[in-house]
Amino acid sequence: MKRRTFIQLIPTISSGLFLPGSLQAHTIFNTINRKDFGNDFVWGAACAAYQVEGAWNIDGKGPSIWDTFTHKKGTIYKNQNGDIACDFYHRYADDIALLKYLGIPNFRFSISWSRILPNGVGTINQRGIDFYHRVIDTCLENNITPWITLYHWDLPQALEDKGGWTNREIINWFSEFVSICTKSYGNKVKNWMVLNEPMAFTGVGYFLGIHAPGKKGIGNFLPAVHHAAMCQAEGARVIRANIADANIGTTFSCSHIDPKKAKERHFLAAQKSDALINRLFIEPALGLGYPTDTIPLLKRIEKYMHSGDEQKLKFDFDFIGIQNYTREVVKHWIFNPILWSKQIPASKRKVELTEMGWEVYPEGIYYLLKKFAAYKNIPPLYVTENGAAFEDVLDDEYVHDNKRIKFIESYLKQVLNAKNEGVNVRGYFYWSFTDNFEWAEGYRTRFGLVHIDYTTQKRTVKDSGFWFKKFLEE
Ligand code: GCO
Repeated sequence: MKRRTFIQLIPTISSGLFLPGSLQAHTIFNTINRKDFGNDFVWGAACAAYQVEGAWNIDGKGPSIWDTFTHKKGTIYKNQNGDIACDFYHRYADDIALLKYLGIPNFRFSISWSRILPNGVGTINQRGIDFYHRVIDTCLENNITPWITLYHWDLPQALEDKGGWTNREIINWFSEFVSICTKSYGNKVKNWMVLNEPMAFTGVGYFLGIHAPGKKGIGNFLPAVHHAAMCQAEGARVIRANIADANIGTTFSCSHIDPKKAKERHFLAAQKSDALINRLFIEPALGLGYPTDTIPLLKRIEKYMHSGDEQKLKFDFDFIGIQNYTREVVKHWIFNPILWSKQIPASKRKVELTEMGWEVYPEGIYYLLKKFAAYKNIPPLYVTENGAAFEDVLDDEYVHDNKRIKFIESYLKQVLNAKNEGVNVRGYFYWSFTDNFEWAEGYRTRFGLVHIDYTTQKRTVKDSGFWFKKFLEE
């Protein structure tokens, strides 16, 4: 099941050493230059707590919905889980040293809510607080700027037991968590992202049920959407209140969407899919409300709204994080009464695919940057995720991942095109720094610049890692 094929499913359910890799790739795709992006452009790599940390029940951490979900048989590829993952909890210092070695000056990571608050609220776990102090301090000692995501999908199970994102109380729960994090780390960390891809965790986790917590249906989806959109703004207000000079953003999964053919009914299908995938969370934040004009069914969300919510959904973000991997092609389809559309899987379109089954479509990132930049009063944009999983072969201590190098270069060229045409895009974070636990795909798909052998935990820099190093040095 590919989670970016969201639309088509709607009707169906109402010791850490690294070895030098090859430099050969550098000469092959050496067609853009860091300098083209300007001196202030922010370069980084990203990861997320559940995907890398492991240590799922260590030092007082409470269980999250991902611990529960992955421990259920049949939810994840080969029943894999993040219990150990990349063991970042114990190996963070080596990994940050590796970031430094690769010359990557910014590191995006997330905080595990149930490591800080094992029950989601109430008693604070000091060992959890201390862990992120160590991570942050190690970054700073290495001149690496930390960028923290507050919620990257690992809700404390104790809160899911009370309804999770479907319970409006989550606005208070989340505010408490954000308040603790910002008070603890605010004097050291200035760059904060409130949510990671709310459309993904509400859509895939509370509508399709293929991600944690495995809930399904519109009756779970709509309240989860509204409460996530409320938390997006409320969390940002808490950051603002606690850190005067914070740079506050939030991130969105987005995909450029094309109609199958230039026919009106396919255009309408594309428009509706676009409203769901690309507009649902940004527009309320900008004060534009939910895109109910394009998807009338979304009006049902009003049931979950209290008076004054429309105002509270707004926040003046300092930046918006765009996360893009692929594009979608859709056609008109009568069996989907919500969107009247169906995705045409990339595998049926004779296009280049990644291991996730996603189309390689670099122009998509250009279109999205232009699209988001066109909103009135839009703050600066950052690409907070972009990357690709390919079949990596560890061969004599090298990983010759030329496809990934080509992918990064071709997407970066499109970011540069948008920038040169006046889009205020200020940074690019590659997803991901190391291979890691890819949600429902388990360890099957690898996105990293650094290869991980999950048996020995050995790190091996891939050719793409060396390519990025060289690119950043130039
Ligand atoms: C997301 C998340 C990441 C994923 C990445 C690759 O976009 O789903 O932010 O956690 O691992 O996108 O799928």
